[in-house]
Amino acid sequence: MNTDNRKVVLIGTGMVGMSYAYALLNQNACDELVLIDVDKERARGEAMDLNHGLAFSSSHMKIYAGEYKDCENADIVVICAGVAQKPGESRLDLLTRNTEVFRSIIGPITESGFNGIFLVATNPVDIMTLITAKLSGFNPRRVLGTGTALDTARLRYMLGEYFNVDPRNMHAYVIGEHGDSEFVAWSQAMLATKPILDLCGETGGCRIEDMKDIEEQVRTSAQRIIKAKRATYYGIGMAMVRITKAIFSNENSVLTVSAMLRGEYGESGVYAGVPCIVNRNGIQRVLSLSLSEEETSKFHASCQTLHEAYDELNL
Ligand code: LAC
Repeated sequence: MNTDNRKVVLIGTGMVGMSYAYALLNQNACDELVLIDVDKERARGEAMDLNHGLAFSSSHMKIYAGEYKDCENADIVVICAGVAQKPGESRLDLLTRNTEVFRSIIGPITESGFNGIFLVATNPVDIMTLITAKLSGFNPRRVLGTGTALDTARLRYMLGEYFNVDPRNMHAYVIGEHGDSEFVAWSQAMLATKPILDLCGETGGCRIEDMKDIEEQVRTSAQRIIKAKRATYYGIGMAMVRITKAIFSNENSVLTVSAMLRGEYGESGVYAGVPCIVNRNGIQRVLSLSLSEEETSKFHASCQTLHEAYDELNL
């Protein structure tokens, strides 16, 4: 990790990638940003557009359209390349098309001599992150996906609105597939240090049916946003910057990124969104929550969905 020059290579300059780039610039979260896209002219145009805003920013970020060889000394390669969901499409529907995209980009990245951390956002992100780990041969701890980081942020926002409390004081996680089988580990959810389920048991506390409604709102957020504006990109872009900052600042922050499970929660050989300690090494540690029996079976069901989708690829 070269902290004197925090270098990121972004592959895929669509709306998600450029929302990430724009947030990186405005949060001054890296020093050098290389944009790569199959549409080279688009990458050049995006670099120009961002550079023309630098005078309004406190950042001195070096931004340019580049090539795969520029990955060599990058600290983080971020992959947003691929097709995005259309209204009515599930994230898993994108798998075959995005697998082909990844087959064409992972090789050139590793052939550049890149030896940093992969951050994957392309959906279905848990499987695309597993594919990245397999095709690159990297230590899975240095290959992470955005996982349920955005879902957890959505949950905290909605809980904050419900309880009229700063979302940063709502400690609750969405875990499992970043998709239809994701769920909230309510047995571990806290308002400050007060279990939310205890609050629901108190008179005038909260109603468990409201919590279940919030969980469903989180699970369907992307579809509702896509229905309204054709795509989601600001939230995921900001989630990616949050993960990037945890890496560059060696934060040891707990984020629900997509991590390779190697026995945790009784699962192996699958990437899923779980609370992880994230630092300059990528995933320092996967945290094992004490899930209830019901939550444990939900987690296994979610991982089974991911296993089956990956197995169908016959990679
Ligand atoms: C969403 C996309 C990033 O949840 O899957 O908005």
